[in-house]
Amino acid sequence: MVSERSLDPDDWSNFANIAHRAVDDTIAFLRDIRERPAWQPVPEDVKERLTTPAPRAPAELQSVYEEFQRDVLPYPIGNIHPRYWGTVMGTGTAETLLADLLISTMNTNCPGFDQSATYVERQVVSWFCELFGFPQSASGVFVTGGTMANMLALLVARNTHAPFDTRTHGITGRSRLRIYASTETHAWIKRACNILGLGEHAIRFIPVDRHRRIDVGSLARAVRDDRSQGHIPFFVNGNAGTVNTGATDDLNALADYCERESLWFHVDGAFGAMAALAPRARAIVSGMERADSLAFDLHKWGYLSYEAGCVLIRDASAHRAALKNPAPYLTHGSNDGITAEGLVFSDISFELSRGFRALKPWIALKTYGVERLGEQIQQNIDQAAYLARAIESSTELELLAEAPLNVVCFRYRTPPHVDANALNSEIVAAVQRSGDAVFTGAVIDGTFAIRAAITNHRTTYADIDYALAAILREGRRRRAAS
Ligand SMILES: Cc1ncc(COP(=O)(O)O)c(C=O)c1O
Repeated sequence: MVSERSLDPDDWSNFANIAHRAVDDTIAFLRDIRERPAWQPVPEDVKERLTTPAPRAPAELQSVYEEFQRDVLPYPIGNIHPRYWGTVMGTGTAETLLADLLISTMNTNCPGFDQSATYVERQVVSWFCELFGFPQSASGVFVTGGTMANMLALLVARNTHAPFDTRTHGITGRSRLRIYASTETHAWIKRACNILGLGEHAIRFIPVDRHRRIDVGSLARAVRDDRSQGHIPFFVNGNAGTVNTGATDDLNALADYCERESLWFHVDGAFGAMAALAPRARAIVSGMERADSLAFDLHKWGYLSYEAGCVLIRDASAHRAALKNPAPYLTHGSNDGITAEGLVFSDISFELSRGFRALKPWIALKTYGVERLGEQIQQNIDQAAYLARAIESSTELELLAEAPLNVVCFRYRTPPHVDANALNSEIVAAVQRSGDAVFTGAVIDGTFAIRAAITNHRTTYADIDYALAAILREGRRRRAAS
């Protein structure tokens, strides 16, 4: 007789012991994260052990877990640490650790079957419609992140506004469709144009004013010129929080303009949309609620663990028309059973199989409440203002851009004979290597800037003082040697 087996543990109580230990270890890891370096490079011996051939024979889970403890867990990127302010990354929370366990336990596929996950996702989308001023008739879907959320909005806009049937015929030849965004826009826009067949030349990058906000007059001129040459303008991106400096375009002016010109108004609020919840900053993103589509990421300034991007589309029928993709093998030809309502989320997203992304925001919002989350976001904004003031009051440091939100760009001042860009970039790397803090860089008008984007609920004012001291230490050391 052929022996039947499953991959379930032979000994559930042994599995439970290891799992309990893993839970205790990971909670302790999170609790004590402050005692660890903000970042440390992956040692050579670890890299070597991570290049072995595929394991053919089984190993005890216990020993695999010990390998994880030794080679994987100690070398994260650092964004869970209180002094990580690189790129734009959220910290994660203890509750999302629990959510990951629950998600894996249910292991539910979420194209939108008649299952609890569908109703959870619908509920979270409707919460964000409420919080961001979108109508309850809008539709929305969780995706991996900001790039996907923005791209999905662009796809719906393209399929809705193109004067030919892009769903059936695609974009053939040299498309005359044109989209508009400020020069400060994140690189998602190039990737999206590449993937959606519009090509990067479809983007008109519009100059910014002295606050790094899109110049609406230049936008209007570009659209007029393009139309006069037979191009087809259809999409304007407004930034709620630019990746470089946290600037927010005049979203009301863009909404007015797009309304007049019948253009799709999109807002990239990857992190900045969350300012709408901050008690003293919500006016910054006023006008966002008038967008045709809005992309935001809860794994950034919602502090959730990855992956928690989301897009809201005002016109739910345009959303579905752009993406629905029925197939007979997915249903059983009746309005009953698991596909009673069709596949409500795969019909408005790029994906068919999808994880249960909405459970994290569902647990987090219920646990903290919106007010508390808003205060946490406000705290980061206040901390960024504190950092900017400290820089301005230092004779050794120079603030390189206004810091209206949670992003601060600055540099260490250098004597004229020193290459300031090279020295500041070395400071960033040296502070990272020291494990004291993680800043990354940005280029502001051709000048390299040390950049902090504070989307970190663990950061304290003392952390900011400590990290600035590390910058000054590395700057002085280099200046003395120059
Ligand atoms: C303003 C902005 N838009 C879009 C993105 C892309 O988001 P993701 O990295 O989640 O794809 C980012 C990432 O930092 C961002 O800051």
